[in-house]
Amino acid sequence: MAEDTILQLDGIVKLFGKVRAVDGSSLEVKRGEIFTLLGPSGCGKTTTLRMVAGLERPDGGRILYKGQPVADTQRRVFVPPHKRNMGMVFQSYAIWPHMTVFENVAYPLRLRGVKGPELRDRVDRVLALVGLTGMAERPAPMLSGGQQQRVAICRALVYEPDLLLLDEPFSNLDAKLRNQMRVEVKLLQRRLGISVLFVTHDQVEALTLSDRIAVMSEGHVEQQGTPAEMYDKPATAFVRDFLGQTVSMKGTLVQPAGGKVGVSLTSGTGTVATVYCLEHSLQEVKPGEPAYLSIRPEDINVIPKANGVDSSQPNAIPGVIETLLFVGDRFEARIGIPSGESILLQLQGALSGPRGSHQRPSRTPHRARHGPDDAAPRCGRLPRHLSAHSNGPPEFPGFEAG
Ligand SMILES: Nc1ncnc2c1ncn2[C@@H]1O[C@H](COP(=O)(O)OP(=O)(O)O)[C@@H](O)[C@H]1O
Ligand SMILES: [Mg+2]
Repeated sequence: MAEDTILQLDGIVKLFGKVRAVDGSSLEVKRGEIFTLLGPSGCGKTTTLRMVAGLERPDGGRILYKGQPVADTQRRVFVPPHKRNMGMVFQSYAIWPHMTVFENVAYPLRLRGVKGPELRDRVDRVLALVGLTGMAERPAPMLSGGQQQRVAICRALVYEPDLLLLDEPFSNLDAKLRNQMRVEVKLLQRRLGISVLFVTHDQVEALTLSDRIAVMSEGHVEQQGTPAEMYDKPATAFVRDFLGQTVSMKGTLVQPAGGKVGVSLTSGTGTVATVYCLEHSLQEVKPGEPAYLSIRPEDINVIPKANGVDSSQPNAIPGVIETLLFVGDRFEARIGIPSGESILLQLQGALSGPRGSHQRPSRTPHRARHGPDDAAPRCGRLPRHLSAHSNGPPEFPGFEAG
């Protein structure tokens, strides 16, 4: 276990009857970072967090915390929750309605035998951290949702845990408050320098809040990395589609040119465009193999034909704007490309020319991603920097496969 690792999960498994809620998850949380478990509902995030806290016993694998095993199924080690010194905040913040703010926050300290001036002092300090000074004597139900969530966070922080576990802590708050709390948690975490293991199904929340993310699917970790790595270099189609939109087009791998891997797009009359990736690490390219080209839509520029772009140049694909919808601050364009597919793009600003005029979406080459369509969609076996997928184009609004 590395020096700067606070928590390490090695192949942990949790079964509920026949359900493999967590199926061999491995990840590492570093000291002082916000690490997020991101994935769709039911993928095993809460179960993972509960095993870290000691609220569930794993059926396989081990968990190391600060270098020591707290759960190890082979060595039959299991450290109970109260001996792990972790703070936890759940989705339903579950503060006690019959207690004041002060008593809610003081409770974990009283359990640990803290009394008198030290108790008051520590509660006051943590309330001040989240801007609840002066509300100590208020009954808990007389707080807004955001304030109640702050109380829950205070209660988890008051005994100075080394690791804070947050399970979808903002999901009961409205969008505005959620954004605000996100910023507050980030500031709080920086100020205290603690490590946070955060759970969410919201990719925007994960991308904005986290130092690193693990995307989970069906009980296992698909990929872990920084938000930018995960967004720009997804290892699997699942990660790519979970983190954002993509435009996918069917094509064929071509002989690499100048070290760049390319995908050609064809229509009935032959090759209409070839798109090359500047960044890739495909070890083996078999020209002629079917492939999908996947590009983040914001990396595609649409240039009117009138501007004199030569569609035979690499990374330029001729297209026709089929529909152009005005949506206030931008246009939503459906663009037909020669393969017969249509792609949907958001255009900033107006484009001159009537509907049906020829336009050219041109690809920003360095962020284009592609891969053979028979590659295994699993992390680790794929070349880095590529989003190869075997399960066809992703579904996203407006996309129609040709
Ligand atoms: N106590 C339980 N008993 C039986 N099945 C459970 C229990 N807790 C979770 N599960 C199942 O385990 C899977 C993962 O659940 P969970 O960890 O809550 O997912 P997430 O938090 O990602 O939504 C789901 O299929 C869920 O139905
Ligand atoms: Mg959950």
